Amino acid sequence: MSHLDDIPSTPGKFKMEKPYFHRIRWHSSLAKLTFWSLVFLGMIFIFFFRSPSSSPLPADPSRRSLRTPSWGGSDWEKKVRSSARVRSRNGISVLVTGSAGFVGTHVSAALKRRGDGVLGLDNFNDYYDPSLKRARQALLERTGVFIVEGDINDSALLMKLFEVVPFTHVMHLAAQAGVRYAMENPGSYVHSNIAGLVNLLEVCKSANPQPAIVWASSSSVYGLNTKVPFSERDRTDQPASLYAATKKAGEEIAHTYNHIYGLSLTGLRFFTVYGPWGRPDMAYFFFTRDILKGKPISIFEAANHASVARDFTYIDDIVRGCLGALDTAEKSTGSGGKKRGPAQLRVFNLGNTSPVPVTELVSILERLLKVKAKRNIMKLPRNGDVPYTHANISFAQAELGYKPTTDLQAGLKKFVRWYLNYYTGGKKAAE
Ligand SMILES: NC(=O)c1ccc[n+]([C@@H]2O[C@H](COP(=O)([O-])OP(=O)(O)OC[C@H]3O[C@@H](n4cnc5c(N)ncnc54)[C@H](O)[C@@H]3O)[C@@H](O)[C@H]2O)c1
Ligand SMILES: *[C@@H]1O[C@H](CO)[C@@H](O)[C@H](O)[C@H]1NC(C)=O
Ligand SMILES: *[C@@H]1O[C@H](CO)[C@@H](O)[C@H](O)[C@H]1NC(C)=O
Repeated sequence: MSHLDDIPSTPGKFKMEKPYFHRIRWHSSLAKLTFWSLVFLGMIFIFFFRSPSSSPLPADPSRRSLRTPSWGGSDWEKKVRSSARVRSRNGISVLVTGSAGFVGTHVSAALKRRGDGVLGLDNFNDYYDPSLKRARQALLERTGVFIVEGDINDSALLMKLFEVVPFTHVMHLAAQAGVRYAMENPGSYVHSNIAGLVNLLEVCKSANPQPAIVWASSSSVYGLNTKVPFSERDRTDQPASLYAATKKAGEEIAHTYNHIYGLSLTGLRFFTVYGPWGRPDMAYFFFTRDILKGKPISIFEAANHASVARDFTYIDDIVRGCLGALDTAEKSTGSGGKKRGPAQLRVFNLGNTSPVPVTELVSILERLLKVKAKRNIMKLPRNGDVPYTHANISFAQAELGYKPTTDLQAGLKKFVRWYLNYYTGGKKAAE
């Protein structure tokens, strides 16, 4: 499972074009014959006379996807249908975006396990090691979940998917995540979290029937707030990063699509999710890697030497929250792109309600790995991270039956066991 390194990555930050010849209707077969003869001659002409040096395509391999759309065709449609087929009596049919991601993989597997129809969508971009996304894909494939390779900002692809499958629900998890990377590549946040979200909602509002949508916002919308615990009714107007600002914008965009088109929309504010198959750009993950390598780790502290703390939430608890949100989502009320009545609009915190200082996280990892960390204490830079997060989850508890059950010690034990097995083939025992 861990050795799928040969498969090429296909950064999907670019829109794929796909012609729709089959939409054109021909009234005479003579016209048809003439047309295809011309197409054939044209192809021969292009094939023989195009000089390779005049190619307008840049050498950048990540742009090759423009020429070879990786979706479409009858085999592809068959896989899409089969993956999305509902297999239990009251099952739902869910399009999961970001399904090769950390949360998306776990949610897709859980839905499939209980008999729902699940179709994945992911662009396999290289924000972090795409071979990990490929390994998650292989895992899902074995449970019967097919992941369509494509971008959420590709409207032709999304329309095609809704043409093939009348999804009842969309679990929208695809996004550009990460707080610090926003200073390096701000455009990727606009592309996925703003343009991609709007594109998805545009297609959903026009779909018949309109699906109910559950999507991932973030605890980062609480930004520089100091009142704890963070509650859904608190103001969220001081984001500390572009990432947070795009998630906040997403919540406002959701309000608009609910208001104008009657889309049922539920936003989930996840609080620092961790666990097996997690994200290599998150602290618990790269601390583990660096501690094992004997490399020093940077631990940030807030003003006045106060400890930075996070409300770490175990992946299985988050998955239960996502399923709870899907199961309590009411139907969208619009049709044909028109609103017919008021629709559900919700926002929930999904956290663990017990913030743990990052120094304590490191101590737990040291015990599990049986290696002493080389700690490098540094001041928290002002590049997006906030000093403290703490979720008030009583609303999710009341409405979704959400109740986290895994503490950081127990959850990290499961993460470390997975990590050692995945990266070292279990050569080091986690106890
Ligand atoms: N993990 C956390 O702690 C956390 C906390 C708060 C919010 N969230 C949110 O939860 C969601 C899932 O997060 P995750 O931790 O699984 O992240 P992830 O990066 O592992 O998963 C996101 C997936 O979406 C895909 N993707 C990105 N842009 C895309 C696009 N334009 N088109 C198609 N696919 C695209 C990526 O390839 C990736 O596989 C995200 O929306 C994230 O912002 C996560
Ligand atoms: C998203 O798609 C739209 C419509 O196809 C396109 O105009 C836009 O440039 C894309 N946006 C981004 C940020 O990629
Ligand atoms: C938590 O949120 C609920 C609303 O969902 C609110 O009634 C309650 O006062 C909040 N609790 C705290 C401690 O802020």
